[in-house]
Amino acid sequence: MAKVAIISVAIAALSVLVGERVLNISKRHLVFREVANKHLPNCVTLKNIEHGSEDITILCNGLAFISTGLKFPGLPTFDVPGRIYTLDLKDPHLKPVELRMPRNFDLESFNPHGISVYTDPSDDTVYLFVVNHPQFKSQIEIFKYGKDGASLVHLKTIKHELLHSVNDIVAVGAESFYATNDHYFSNEHLKTLEILLLMPWTNVVYYSPNEVKVVSEGYHFANGINMSPDQRYIYVANIFNHSVNVLEKKEDNTLTPVKSVTLGSLCDNIEVDPKTGDLWMGCHINAKKLFLFDPKDPPGSEVIRIQNILSDQPVVTQVYTDDGGVLMGSSVAAVYGGKLLIGTVFHKALCCDLK
Ligand SMILES: *[C@@H]1O[C@H](CO)[C@@H](O)[C@H](O)[C@H]1NC(C)=O
Ligand SMILES: *[C@@H]1O[C@H](CO)[C@@H](O)[C@H](O)[C@H]1NC(C)=O
Repeated sequence: MAKVAIISVAIAALSVLVGERVLNISKRHLVFREVANKHLPNCVTLKNIEHGSEDITILCNGLAFISTGLKFPGLPTFDVPGRIYTLDLKDPHLKPVELRMPRNFDLESFNPHGISVYTDPSDDTVYLFVVNHPQFKSQIEIFKYGKDGASLVHLKTIKHELLHSVNDIVAVGAESFYATNDHYFSNEHLKTLEILLLMPWTNVVYYSPNEVKVVSEGYHFANGINMSPDQRYIYVANIFNHSVNVLEKKEDNTLTPVKSVTLGSLCDNIEVDPKTGDLWMGCHINAKKLFLFDPKDPPGSEVIRIQNILSDQPVVTQVYTDDGGVLMGSSVAAVYGGKLLIGTVFHKALCCDLK
């Protein structure tokens, strides 16, 4: 009798624990979250972009770089190689142009993810940094943007044991950058388990040819990373903590935590408006809809802006939302000249007027 009672109590306790765990996971993934549509005027989908536009970055002259064709375990993907496009936002035709890749570069396995641009102040050379996952591994490619404006020159592939599951990067020199790792484990099965448990085990790594080190840790899937216009602060999207972290960059390239800003959404990449310093983020409304893709109940899109992030009262604004009828799985948002460009993990890209 006593034995049965003990077993019942044990089962009850275990159920509570499992139930609590499931509830915690549901909260982290925002599985019950729905938001009403909030559209913007004059939105057009970009020509030629059908298989994702996971990351976008815009130069001060209005030229956007777009990475397409990401294959990410657990998310819908298409059997097309990755490509890099440019889009001149000053041209009203809004026509993305595919950049010609060098012959010595393996295009078949190109699987581009986060991108970042570094402009050399001495000669205005534009370097494009791309997180690449050939066969789901992680490496960083550094390209030079061709003088002809239509091609990329491959300079270097960077691999390092600390750069084991890179999601995004921010370039801080011609050969140096900060990178986020979105997983702790490298093994495929453990990675899947990790997506469910979402322990705060992921980090940010600093890379330069002379030094590679972990500079910040404790993230529930570190995602987008970017820098303030004065280059003093680094911003990291802590996607499954529904927050963005502000860190101060030190002389020795280490990062000291400043604050965390709550967003209430699953924000992915971060772009920074060079004029205002505002952060623009492409966010996921609900991770369940993203991972358990159902075309009849698609994942939606959400764009969030943060103003005055360094002040005591940052202003967090939801600028755009869609239930997936127009745009599925937004991962990035960037602004130029009154226009908002929104990219997605595996769907199209949208360009809207802000007013
Ligand atoms: C669920 O989350 C709460 C608060 O976030 C935490 O204290 C608790 O340990 C978690 N439970 C499980 C089973 O992970
Ligand atoms: C996670 O979010 C909470 C609430 O916004 C915040 O207090 C905490 O600092 C965040 N943790 C990290 C590691 O960013």
